[in-house]
Amino acid sequence: MVIDKSAEYLAMNALVILDKYATVSPDHVQKWVDVGSRESFPANGGACVKHGDLQIAVFNFSSRSKWYACQNLCPHKFEMVIGRGLIGDEQGAPKVACPLHKNNFSLESGEHLNGDLPALATYPVKIDEGRVLIGFTS
Ligand code: FES
Repeated sequence: MVIDKSAEYLAMNALVILDKYATVSPDHVQKWVDVGSRESFPANGGACVKHGDLQIAVFNFSSRSKWYACQNLCPHKFEMVIGRGLIGDEQGAPKVACPLHKNNFSLESGEHLNGDLPALATYPVKIDEGRVLIGFTS
C-alpha cells in the first residue's frame, strides 16, 4: 500500500482539521464545558484541553485577571502548540506567540498580528466556583 504524503495531500488534511475550529461568541454559547479547576492552569501561562476531537488552548492571564481560550492548532505549520505559547501584550492588547516560529495572535479576536495567516478560533471562558468553563456551540 502506498501512503500519499505529498505536500498537497498534507495541506488538504490540515485544512480539514483547521475547518473544525470556529470562533464562538459569548451570545452564541449553547454549552459550557468544565475543563478543570482554576488552580490546574499555570499563572500567566497556557495549557491544552480536549473537547471531542478539538484541542483548545486555555490561558490564565493572571496579571490581567483574564482568561482566554482558542484553538491549539497553529495555522502556520498546523502544529498543536498554541497552548505552549508565550502570552504578552501588543499595544495594550493580549496576545500569544506560537512557540515554534513566533507568529503572534490576538487572544481576544484570534487575529494574526504579524502577518496574514488565518485567525485562531476563540472561545468564551468563565470561572464559576473555582472551575474553568469554556463555551461551545455543541
Ligand atoms: S507553527 Fe506556529 S508559528 Fe510556525
